[in-house]
Amino acid sequence: MASRPYLAEHDPRAPITSFYGPLADVYDDLVVDPIHGSWARFLDGLWAVDGDGVRNVLDVCCGTGLMAAQLRRLGYRVTGVDGSADMLARARVRLGAAVQLHRAWLPDLATEATFDAAIATLDSLNYLPEKDFQETVHAVAERLRGGGWFVFDLHTDALMRLVAGQPVQGGEHDGRRFVLQHDVDVLTRNCRTAIEYPDARGHSFREEHVQFFHSDALVGKALRAAGFRAITAVDEYSHDAVTDDTLRATWLARLA
Ligand SMILES: C[S@@+](CC[C@H](N)C(=O)[O-])C[C@H]1O[C@@H](n2cnc3c(N)ncnc32)[C@H](O)[C@@H]1O
Repeated sequence: MASRPYLAEHDPRAPITSFYGPLADVYDDLVVDPIHGSWARFLDGLWAVDGDGVRNVLDVCCGTGLMAAQLRRLGYRVTGVDGSADMLARARVRLGAAVQLHRAWLPDLATEATFDAAIATLDSLNYLPEKDFQETVHAVAERLRGGGWFVFDLHTDALMRLVAGQPVQGGEHDGRRFVLQHDVDVLTRNCRTAIEYPDARGHSFREEHVQFFHSDALVGKALRAAGFRAITAVDEYSHDAVTDDTLRATWLARLA
């Protein structure tokens, strides 16, 4: 059964009314850093050691297709899945008609195909509460061939502390001011973020997102339970070890 993102207050299972809706229009502008290219090159180097070859990649929470576009440039065949129709509409424009894109809320992956690797970039799996995270890891394992790869990144405790200490972030892009207000609950390890950003006509829109800080123990347990081995966490798509300062950990795992 597919799940939807949640608001933490009131009913924790209540769906968020606007989730990556109007934000889709400015998402690419906010991700101004050309990080996806270097992340794709890291993955390309990682997968080069795989004797069976990595060709088909499932991009879980593909968003506007930034990562899929970079992987396609390197010769990979990519299938994307995401819950947001607006993000997928952007991905369709970026990637063209030949790329398979599915709309589904995790843990539903909306595909029966088998892949050599799956990815989930830019904190996407932080949107999943514990149970959905575990079920998604299982669902991914079912879609991978033996020895297939699952690579994803997650916010660390260092980021949780940073955001708790600096709950308001503002910025300006393209002459437009935006504000992100974070409300971190360190005990329950979640963060509600309100995003306000003027839309293309100068009117402000507001979205509220809830993200969950998964402990290393939970992530490792979920991966092992789903049959993954060779589980490692590294500092943001690098070969460096995670340190106390790492804000984004990249998890690497292979299906047994
Ligand atoms: C921060 S964006 C990352 C997009 C893309 N991976 C990237 O690197 O640019 C998070 C994406 O996860 C999607 N998402 C979040 N929770 C989801 C869920 N439960 N099911 C499906 N998609 C979800 C959102 O719609 C959004 O496109």
